[in-house]
Amino acid sequence: MHRLCGYASTEKGFIRAWLQRLASGMALASTLLLGQTVVAAGIDGVSVTASLLEQTGASIDEPRLEVTAGGKTLSLSRSELLLRSQVITVQKDSAYQRTMQYRAVPISVLLPSAADHASVQFVASDGFVANIAGQDLAGVGQAYLAIEELAHPWPPIDANNPHKTASAGPFYLVWLDPVAGKISNEQWPYQVAKIRVEQPLLQRYPRLAPAQINASAPAMRGLQVFLKNCAVCHKMNGAGDAEIGPDLNLPYNPTQYFQTEFLRKLIRQPSAVRTWKTSLMPGFDVKTISNAELDDLLSYLKAMAKSQKHESVKRQ
Ligand code: HEC
Repeated sequence: MHRLCGYASTEKGFIRAWLQRLASGMALASTLLLGQTVVAAGIDGVSVTASLLEQTGASIDEPRLEVTAGGKTLSLSRSELLLRSQVITVQKDSAYQRTMQYRAVPISVLLPSAADHASVQFVASDGFVANIAGQDLAGVGQAYLAIEELAHPWPPIDANNPHKTASAGPFYLVWLDPVAGKISNEQWPYQVAKIRVEQPLLQRYPRLAPAQINASAPAMRGLQVFLKNCAVCHKMNGAGDAEIGPDLNLPYNPTQYFQTEFLRKLIRQPSAVRTWKTSLMPGFDVKTISNAELDDLLSYLKAMAKSQKHESVKRQ
């Protein structure tokens, strides 16, 4: 976007020429990302965007979404995405905890080959990173990317938490049938800035797994619970993508400094153990993490405490 910003006050013809260049770039990228049928729509879409800009004088300094697959990156503006959007109703919205209506683009349009990818990464602007299986994105959960319109801003995520007064926009991954798709609350990344096809987290960071000798069956099941629910915010053993919460193994593992029962309580409902206004960690109820899964998660955390030097990771 920064390239266009500089031209904001220059002539419209200039903007049109720039958008035409963007259009040819999109045609190239779209073979990869958007499939044959959307190539034309992409080029069309961009020229419509140009005329929209001219008619409405809309701000061209608008949010953009980066989509990377096969080593190529496409940058899509909000208006380009809106042109491909439809209106959807989300019954049990995760960020807003109520029924919401959105303009949204099906993930199958953004990433037609989603099912072929083991893992797709959604990077939020606040450091939250969800790695979601391509099968889930293409599956019965029905994934859409909701787009916040300039004229219809969404409400704050939590007006009472000074760290959560922004909305879930500009881009937010929502699901029409999260129950059928077994989609957890941590698979609704909001404030999305980038979508990237990536190797699965564990493949990129083998030291997220306990060292062989500590890897009991419950610990390995707990690893999966961790990857789905916790790795979106926490690093572990120095490994992972997220930047929101503390590393849960270095320099020490919470099982080393919390009594087990309080750790259980904290995972179920952090405010039951300690509370302050800007806390960011959500609680996990039994529907999200069953009692058996919580046991597995604790086995995993304990196994990791014994794996702190695993793969030459050193305690600081
Ligand atoms: C949305 C982000 C997010 C998710 C998801 C999340 N956490 Fe946290 N967690 C945090 C943040 C941020 C903190 C620091 C305290 C705070 O702001 O609430 C924290 C604190 C903690 C602490 C206390 C650490 C300490 O030393 O004080 C533990 C233990 C913990 N998280 C475990 C987990 C586990 C286990 C999961 C998965 C079941 C999980 N968290 C999921 C964000 C998250």
